Amino acid sequence: MTRFEQLEKHGLFDARVPRYTSYPPANHFVRGAGQRHQADWLRTVPEGSAVSVYIHIPFCKRLCYFCACRTQGTRTMRPVEAYLAVLVQELHAVRALLPAGLKMARLHLGGGTPTILSSAAMHNVLTEVFASFDAADDIEFSVEIDPTEAAPALLEILAEFGLNRASIGVQDFAPQVQEAIGRQQSFAQTQAVVEKLRALGVPNINLDLLYGLPHQTSDSFANTLDRVLSLAPDRLAIYGYAHVPWMSKRQVMIKEDSLPDTHARFDLAEMAAQVFTQAGYLPIGIDHFALPSDGLAQAAKEGRLRRNFQGYTDDTAPTLIGFGASAISRFSQGYVQNAPATSAYLDRIAQGGMAGHNGYAMQHADGLVARVIEELMCCFMFSEDRLNAEFPNQRDTIHAIGVSLMRQFPDVFFIAHGGLQLRDDAKPLVRIIASCVDTFVSKQTAHASAI
Ligand SMILES: C[S@@+](CC[C@H](N)C(=O)[O-])C[C@H]1O[C@@H](n2cnc3c(N)ncnc32)[C@H](O)[C@@H]1O
Ligand code: SF4
Repeated sequence: MTRFEQLEKHGLFDARVPRYTSYPPANHFVRGAGQRHQADWLRTVPEGSAVSVYIHIPFCKRLCYFCACRTQGTRTMRPVEAYLAVLVQELHAVRALLPAGLKMARLHLGGGTPTILSSAAMHNVLTEVFASFDAADDIEFSVEIDPTEAAPALLEILAEFGLNRASIGVQDFAPQVQEAIGRQQSFAQTQAVVEKLRALGVPNINLDLLYGLPHQTSDSFANTLDRVLSLAPDRLAIYGYAHVPWMSKRQVMIKEDSLPDTHARFDLAEMAAQVFTQAGYLPIGIDHFALPSDGLAQAAKEGRLRRNFQGYTDDTAPTLIGFGASAISRFSQGYVQNAPATSAYLDRIAQGGMAGHNGYAMQHADGLVARVIEELMCCFMFSEDRLNAEFPNQRDTIHAIGVSLMRQFPDVFFIAHGGLQLRDDAKPLVRIIASCVDTFVSKQTAHASAI
């Protein structure tokens, strides 16, 4: 049986399974639970603990057809400015409930396009954030950057506030692909932004790529990969394009018959993995590559890799506080998601200062499943010994999960490290395997394909 046939046998090319950036996945959050718990959970964040902060900017000047992110197009800055004024109110309201002495270990600005902000607006927001949260000495401050929307003066402001990781969207440099996804972005533009960031002393550069885009061929993609490597990024994320027009309406602009078929899509992912590993990058989880010196590679080596809403992370702060429309916060007790629509978010803040809407209070059994899924996604293993030490009262359940995994996937696991280890060539199956442990979902259609 070829590798493709083996992966096909386990349903890799048909399955629609969550990306497991959280457990339970956000589509299982309960309506109103975020609103009910938000204030209590903020008040009980341990005094003096480390917190991560996420700020969502849901605006873009252009709307790329492929994009499934929660964002809206705008030609003027007026809605952005109105949104930022409300976001500052939210910062104050949330901060008022938190205990003293917190240390901000991470600050991430995501979107949408955070770099759509004017320099003055960015200066103002960052001043408010750093006044609300004391930065840890080793804070990681990262921003998602669209190179076509990144004025040098704005990058200078970000650097002034200590930007030390830039996450730059590339997707693909081939003109026919860019045309089909409604995203014109020249190599020269991208290179200029990377060079400017480096000149400003920003030490870490991440690039985002997509495989499975319309009109992508192995030749065109090989050329993109070469150009990407010439920029010498520290970290690469390469995601399979999720074609979900029933969820992301703008994707109807992408004709299904222009997408690579299953075999071609698989080959594109394999080619990228080969090119990156030959260039000295280490594979991290299912969709990241990093230089051995990068924080993510170090975390993977030391077993500290985690999942969060951005995907893989080396952030170990127990609390994540999200600001802005649709932003998700994670507490030891569970998850709170802000009202997703920008208008509903603005209304909620205007009414009472906070916007928690959907959410989920973790139940006793969820902690173990969440840990099993995170370990599968991060380390491709099910470590019975480690889980027994962490959850001593659930030894029978842990054993039963191991037996069930081995029964369902006997040909892809081998016994190692006091448990089960997934074979290297079966790693693309990990989301499917995780979904078998997931007690919320077995068969879902709401998600993108498993590869
Ligand atoms: C918020 S977006 C990009 C940030 C910035 N606005 C830009 O355009 O560069 C973050 C990343 O999500 C990924 N993404 C967006 N839509 C996707 C989809 N349909 N399938 C897979 N990944 C997607 C892309 O790799 C993108 O770079
Ligand atoms: S890829 Fe970036 S610029 Fe394009 S629509 Fe998505 S968030 Fe906006």
